[in-house]
Parts: sequence; structure tokens; C-alpha cells
Amino acid sequence: MENQKSFVIWFTGLSASGKTTVSEHLKKELLKSGVSTVLFDGDTMRKGISKDLGFSDDDRKENIRRTAEMAKLVTLSGVSAICALISPFVQDRQAAKGILSDFHFVEVYVSTPFEICEKRDPKGFYKKARIKEIIDFTGIDSIYEKPVEPDIAINTESMSPDECVKVIIDYLKTNKII
Ligand code: ADX
Repeated sequence: MENQKSFVIWFTGLSASGKTTVSEHLKKELLKSGVSTVLFDGDTMRKGISKDLGFSDDDRKENIRRTAEMAKLVTLSGVSAICALISPFVQDRQAAKGILSDFHFVEVYVSTPFEICEKRDPKGFYKKARIKEIIDFTGIDSIYEKPVEPDIAINTESMSPDECVKVIIDYLKTNKII
């Protein structure tokens, strides 16, 4: 495992689709095999390095760029990264992949349907977006562009976090990334 190239797992999907839960499980599972990762989660980024940004298309683009650049610094130092952001636009995800082009980049689409995410609504954002208390909410008045050819697609409605992690780890092993 020592001479392996670092990798970046990039989760994309709606708010409440399960990105954070699966990425945290993945981080723990990789550590069991001796693979350390740094996790960049949208909510965490937005409390710190991206706290000056909102949810306009341009601000999302910048949030994704910053996350990719941070992931690059980490991967350059030999540690792998897990990024979990809505990252709703194809172009921004492609730009992230470009920033990280020296490393394995695995796009994971968390395809949990909109209705399920809205029903879960753990932070009450969907409800607020419906009554226009917040604007530009992904899936309501801001679009989410589904990945056309993600490396992996997982659905947390029908799969447990552990099942999702297994699919990802199997992919990494099959492709000799770990
Ligand atoms: S991204 O579009 O820039 O990739 P990011 O993943 O960082 O989004 O942040 C999404 C999180 O911010 C959501 O899970 C939710 O908790 C919160 N949030 C607050 N306002 C919005 C909004 N208008 N659209 C989407 N998420 C929002």
C-alpha cells in the first residue's frame, strides 16, 4: 500500500441524501485497512473556510474550488481525501476533477431520491425552502445536475451506510486504488 497514489472520493448529491453519513463510515472503514483520509464536508467547510459564501451559483462554484484546492494540498502530502458536498453542477465537479487530475478521482453519486431527502429534512431546510424562508435551495429553487457517468452510484434509501461503503471499497480494490 505504501507506494500507492493518493485518491480523492468526491460525493455529490442532494442535501440529506446521506453524503456525510456514508463518508464518515467510509473514513472509519478505510482507517481499519491502514488508509488515513481527511474529510472535507460541505457543512464543515461552510462553517470555516467558506463562511463568507452563500448559495448562489457563483458561491457554490467557489466553495467547490476551495474544497478541491484543499484536497489537493492534502493529497500532495500523500494523504487521501474524502469530499462530501452537494456540488450540484457538472461543470464545477469537472473543475474539481481537473484541479485533482494528478490523483485518482472517484465520483460517487448519492442518488437518494428528492422525495426521500425532503421527507428526512433533518435540519428543516426543505420546509423553509418550500415556504420561501430560504431561497436558492437545491432541488427546490436551485437545480441539481445529476452526474451522467458517475464512477459509483449509491442510494441510501435502499442501502445501509455499511452496504454503501462496501460498494466503494470494492471499487477501490478492483481498480487497484487501495
Ligand atoms: S454546495 O452546493 O456548495 O456544494 P454544500 O455541500 O457546501 O453545498 O452545503 C450544503 C449544506 O448547506 C446543506 O446540506 C444544508 O445543510 C446547507 N444549506 C443551507 N442553505 C442551503 C441552500 N440554499 N441550498 C443547499 N444547501 C443549503
